Amino acid sequence: MGKKIRKAVFPVAGMGTRFLPATKASPKEMLPLVDKPMIQYVVEEAVEAGITQMIMVTGRNKHSIEDHFDKSVELELLLAGKGDEANLEMARKISEMCEFCYIRQKEPKGLGHAILRAREIVGDEPFAVLLGDDIIHSPGRPVIGQLMETFDIKQAPVIAVEKVPMENVSSYGVVDPSGELEGALHQIKSMVEKPPIDKAPSNLAIIGRYILTPEIFDFIDATKPDAKGEIQLTTALNSQLEKTTAYALEFSGTRYDAGDKLGFLIATVEYALRSEPLGEKFREYLKKIKL
Ligand code: UTP
Repeated sequence: MGKKIRKAVFPVAGMGTRFLPATKASPKEMLPLVDKPMIQYVVEEAVEAGITQMIMVTGRNKHSIEDHFDKSVELELLLAGKGDEANLEMARKISEMCEFCYIRQKEPKGLGHAILRAREIVGDEPFAVLLGDDIIHSPGRPVIGQLMETFDIKQAPVIAVEKVPMENVSSYGVVDPSGELEGALHQIKSMVEKPPIDKAPSNLAIIGRYILTPEIFDFIDATKPDAKGEIQLTTALNSQLEKTTAYALEFSGTRYDAGDKLGFLIATVEYALRSEPLGEKFREYLKKIKL
């Protein structure tokens, strides 16, 4: 039987410069979409897919994330005293959801560098990576679970991709799919980080969900920093591709680029419209706005 995914790595040590000043003293992953920090949506996605150990790679200002997933005795006492059972249950659920551990990335030297920090805790097994600023709505079918299903069959790295308008490709890692195709699954020939439009091999953009194998750590270790001094995961994966087969899956679900201000606002409006009982009132309000 093939190996199963039990662990997920959440790199949350970026500087979040696109969200300054909100991210000056607090990580962008703690920005709330309606009433939940972004990172909680992503952790819940991993829990729903059956992952049990969450490894957070944090930077400066990590405390709010740790506190959020920790038990808050004061809050629980207060809610119990008020007889607020619903909120008490919700607060308990967050801290009891799964097992968390935290490692520090001392300097934000790129996504590859952040993932390499998790090497010891991950050990010699395949693992998931989820980025907290890609929020994906896919009720009943967590995207990381979709990737895990593919991994179960292929036992090779699987990366989430989405077709984006060609004029946007330079903001993403982009995959060059080989001709071999099984429905939404592509075998990857190569990949490139943030290519100019005329050099982009396709419009299949890499989205922040990955299933990686432990071999990636050696490839990251051997990757040189780019012009900005960052060690890119895409570059390491591209080197791994010379030795291993890897796959890109066009997942089903609606993705929000919540690491960007406009994407975050769009996600906020759409999640607010879906939330109960808020959604109905919010819809009524939006209908009244003159645009
Ligand atoms: P981004 O490049 O989107 O995040 O990294 P950023 O650097 O925080 O944001 P901007 O561009 O300055 O606004 C994608 C993910 O990788 C993490 C980030 O926290 C984010 O979730 N990351 C990035 C790290 O953990 N460490 C790094 O060195 C870089």
